Amino acid sequence: MILPSHLLAFLASCAFFSLTLAAKWPNHVINELEHLLVDTDGFNDAGLQKAITPCTNYVSGSQLLGRETAAQWVRVAFHDFVTADVESGTGGIDASIGFETLRPENSGSAMNDSLGFFAPFVNAHVSMADMIALSVVMSVGTCSAPTIPIPLRGGRVDATQEGLFGVPEPETDIDTTLDQFSQAGFNQSDAIGLTVCGHTLGSVHHGGFPQVVPQSAVTPNNTGGGIHFDATPDVFDVDVLNEYLEWKGQRGGPLVTTDNITVRSDLRLYLSDNNATLHGLAESSSKFISTCVSLLTRMINTTPALVPLTDIIEPQDIKPVNISLSVDTTGRVLFSGYIRLLSTAFTSTDQVRITWTSRTGVSSSAFKTHANAVQTGNSIFGTTFYHFFNKSIDPTQGISAFKINILRGKSVEVSSNGGGGYPIDDVAVFLPHETIIGADGTLSVHAAVLTAAEAQNVTAVVSAPSPQLGTISPAIVKSVASFKKNGTRGLYTLYTATVPPVSNLHQTTLDLTANARGSYVYRDDFRRVVVSGTSSTENT
Ligand code: HEM
Ligand SMILES: *[C@@H]1O[C@H](CO)[C@@H](O)[C@H](O)[C@H]1NC(C)=O
Ligand SMILES: *[C@@H]1O[C@H](CO)[C@@H](O)[C@H](O)[C@H]1NC(C)=O
Ligand SMILES: *[C@@H]1O[C@H](CO)[C@@H](O)[C@H](O)[C@H]1NC(C)=O
Ligand SMILES: *[C@@H]1O[C@H](CO)[C@@H](O)[C@H](O)[C@H]1NC(C)=O
Ligand SMILES: *[C@@H]1O[C@H](CO)[C@@H](O)[C@H](O)[C@H]1NC(C)=O
Ligand SMILES: *[C@@H]1O[C@H](CO)[C@@H](O)[C@H](O)[C@H]1NC(C)=O
Ligand SMILES: *[C@@H]1O[C@H](CO)[C@@H](O)[C@H](O)[C@H]1NC(C)=O
Ligand SMILES: *[C@@H]1O[C@H](CO)[C@@H](O)[C@H](O)[C@H]1NC(C)=O
Ligand SMILES: *[C@@H]1O[C@H](CO)[C@@H](O)[C@H](O)[C@H]1NC(C)=O
Repeated sequence: MILPSHLLAFLASCAFFSLTLAAKWPNHVINELEHLLVDTDGFNDAGLQKAITPCTNYVSGSQLLGRETAAQWVRVAFHDFVTADVESGTGGIDASIGFETLRPENSGSAMNDSLGFFAPFVNAHVSMADMIALSVVMSVGTCSAPTIPIPLRGGRVDATQEGLFGVPEPETDIDTTLDQFSQAGFNQSDAIGLTVCGHTLGSVHHGGFPQVVPQSAVTPNNTGGGIHFDATPDVFDVDVLNEYLEWKGQRGGPLVTTDNITVRSDLRLYLSDNNATLHGLAESSSKFISTCVSLLTRMINTTPALVPLTDIIEPQDIKPVNISLSVDTTGRVLFSGYIRLLSTAFTSTDQVRITWTSRTGVSSSAFKTHANAVQTGNSIFGTTFYHFFNKSIDPTQGISAFKINILRGKSVEVSSNGGGGYPIDDVAVFLPHETIIGADGTLSVHAAVLTAAEAQNVTAVVSAPSPQLGTISPAIVKSVASFKKNGTRGLYTLYTATVPPVSNLHQTTLDLTANARGSYVYRDDFRRVVVSGTSSTENT
């Protein structure tokens, strides 16, 4: 058994170590969005892409309505974006659209259909505004072959109230329309380009736009009365442009061809420079696509001033997933999680080994992940291979960081988070699997803190997605839970706190903090609870 004084020395070095590396990993915003983008099928599916697979799918109701979720997502982003005022630095992609669904300029079912689908994904690190941006990347990427990649950044912040008016409508005159785009930072050719890019997907519907699409469009298998913009409403391609310029097929769609001259907004826009922009885009399919990528990227990156976006989120070749420590009833410390490998860099037969560093910086020997527990998933970026591990750590030595080694034949690739390893804090450990839910929904949550750290207090910031008035999008409400001592387990002291009922258990997360002797602070951030049992005595 190690003497408490030794342990204190370990703790001091650990605190210093965590502080210097914590900024690099994990970046929760990037990791969460990367998960939603890359884990789209099979093991650990995040569940976003299924909504638009195939691209004709409508996830919010009957397939006979003639509606298409992928197209709705792109339209929602446009409506959120276009009321930006780039000069004063307000609006853009900020999810204010959620508060604006009753405005005539946001007519149609797309807004609440989409935000209602996104709402369960929103949490402390995934804003609704980032979901709106991601959904454009997802739609364009999924509804194209080869995949059209729009670079994604994260970090958008949700508005807490409605924003400016100013979405162009079918009846809006051309000068007003161009002014509205201009206020959002898009000049005439940008406006024409962005519109033709958007209108390669989806339809105009009698249900929502009876002044554009006549009742006759409504049929038993198209009850919403949708008329496509082009022959391939489920493919992001140049067809809409070619059909318009060659005056064939859908000839640009209902906003060009409708009998009602007042609502021919696409025709007015395209003719405003005598088709010059469109002729330029029609040079080649690749010119059309590269212009659309550039314009859509600008659209989703138009955010209120002072909202810094992350770096571009690239699919990670080697990704530690759900890494955690737990302390079992006998005081054993278990280090577990998955290492996800991507097929762009690795194969299914590559092996994964992990090494860790103790609190004093001593390296362990490498251990293998469970070779018979490799699970696979799929994405537009390739196949994912998930390697599971679950390893007991000597609590007297502890763990402060780990490294990943990938073995292919005789070559080894080391992933060490820039050298020092991926930091992990074994002083304050949240125990998600021990959460108990009371009859009234009250949660009893548990944590373990190394006794030698002499914690003065243990608290957790609880971030709970909560309903807000006027929008279907949740607000993240933060509260503080205070923990009380509740027995010991080996070298650890157990702590328990109660958390009032929450409306979305899966996306409610805790940031645990233990303030210890010597002003050291230990953390276990962004942990979800996993309910293990119910209690009926909790509600008194
Ligand atoms: C002058 C500018 C624009 C006007 C007046 C306009 C108007 C409309 C209208 C009336 C609809 C039919 C909606 C429905 O029936 O559900 C529609 C659909 C659509 N719009 Fe636009 N739009 C404009 C620009 C854009 C832009 C810039 C984008 C995206 C970059 C875009 C993306 C879409 C998409 C994807 C659809 C199909 C939605 C679906 O099938 O549910 N639009 N637009
Ligand atoms: C519009 O903006 C684009 C991109 O910012 C630029 O390339 C183009 O020259 C501009 N067009 C006009 C007519 O100002
Ligand atoms: C044409 O559209 C305008 C503007 O929405 C509307 O007021 C008018 O009733 C429409 N005309 C017909 C014949 O639908
Ligand atoms: C609706 O049914 C008709 C006749 O069977 C068919 O030609 C058409 O493609 C169908 N449309 C859709 C949207 O499924
Ligand atoms: C623009 O294109 C449309 C559709 O092909 C065509 O009807 C119109 O005559 C063209 N206008 C000019 C000025 O090129
Ligand atoms: C990771 O943790 C989350 C939250 O508890 C869970 O939903 C997800 O299934 C986990 N993924 C894996 C691969 O275990
Ligand atoms: C790790 O293994 C222990 C038994 O050795 C088990 O109790 C625990 O649930 C496992 N952890 C995970 C995440 O599977
Ligand atoms: C927790 O302990 C730290 C360090 O002793 C102290 O600064 C802080 O005020 C305490 N917080 C609470 C809520 O007691
Ligand atoms: C969208 O949902 C919000 C929040 O539930 C609601 O207030 C609003 O009326 C809905 N909008 C439409 C068009 O149904
Ligand atoms: C201590 O933890 C046990 C086991 O989870 C729990 O049943 C009990 O309610 C907790 N005690 C307090 C005071 O929170």
